[in-house]
Amino acid sequence: MSLFTIDQNKCAKDGLCAAECPYGLITMESGMPEPVPGAEKVCIDCGHCVAVCPTGAFALATMDPAGCARVEPERLPAAEALDHLVRFRRSVRVYKNKPVEREKLVRLLDMVRYAPTGKNTQLISWLVVTGKEAREELAAGAVDWMRDLLATNSPMAAAFGVKRWIGAWEQGLDPILRSAPCLLVTHAPESHRGGVIDSTIALATLDLAAVTEGLGTCWAGLLFLAASNWPPLREKLALPSGETITGAMMIGYPKHRYQRIPRRKETRVTWR
Ligand SMILES: Cc1cc2nc3c(=O)[nH]c(=O)nc-3n(C[C@H](O)[C@H](O)[C@H](O)COP(=O)(O)O)c2cc1C
Repeated sequence: MSLFTIDQNKCAKDGLCAAECPYGLITMESGMPEPVPGAEKVCIDCGHCVAVCPTGAFALATMDPAGCARVEPERLPAAEALDHLVRFRRSVRVYKNKPVEREKLVRLLDMVRYAPTGKNTQLISWLVVTGKEAREELAAGAVDWMRDLLATNSPMAAAFGVKRWIGAWEQGLDPILRSAPCLLVTHAPESHRGGVIDSTIALATLDLAAVTEGLGTCWAGLLFLAASNWPPLREKLALPSGETITGAMMIGYPKHRYQRIPRRKETRVTWR
């Protein structure tokens, strides 16, 4: 099957598809867009050719223009609104005892699949843990890892201040998942080198978007570290075979309302 087809009646022969292709896989030599030899082996299915075509003449075998939503520039948030969202969001560590509606999670996960992935691989999958027992078991697994770091005199024990977290856990607190009603775990094939970066971008996007749903998030860095280093916790996660954890984030309704934006360091930048 050809990589793409062109509706000859609609094509404006403007070469936008060729100019936009990140791998230069489209030639206009004949006057019409045509794939260069071997293009189908290199194409990453990013769809820029379909997206940029003003007349809807360009259809990838995997993606026709009718199946792609129209862009609506008038719906973009104003610069000040986005600026405020970025400053407004906080790492939430105190949650209401209220579950997150599945529709909201579905909406957020559906949105963040549009976050960029290296070479458009889109290999990130999600594990959503809402069960209290399951969340507590994972947090307990992370504390076990911390106890092992201490017992084996690992330098990581001091680096991550594990005594403090173990102490809090032993007092009945949850310093790992902050008793959040929901934990999101991203995972990707072990062979996928860009898994952590792609997940971080997706989670950072979700972190911002969650605010617009009245939700708050917190990066579950301690759980991620533990799961990346402690096989018993990896077993508890029970990810599909061949998949590895690439990120984790708590999500729920914030119990407290922040009144101010805490100060941050000034930007350090070199202009050349
Ligand atoms: C990669 C990463 C891992 C983090 N892990 C944790 C964590 O395990 N527990 C926690 O309470 N906060 C965690 N945080 C939250 C940071 O402490 C927080 O972003 C920082 O204090 C700034 O606060 P803010 O997010 O409200 O601006 C993590 C943040 C990042 C970016």
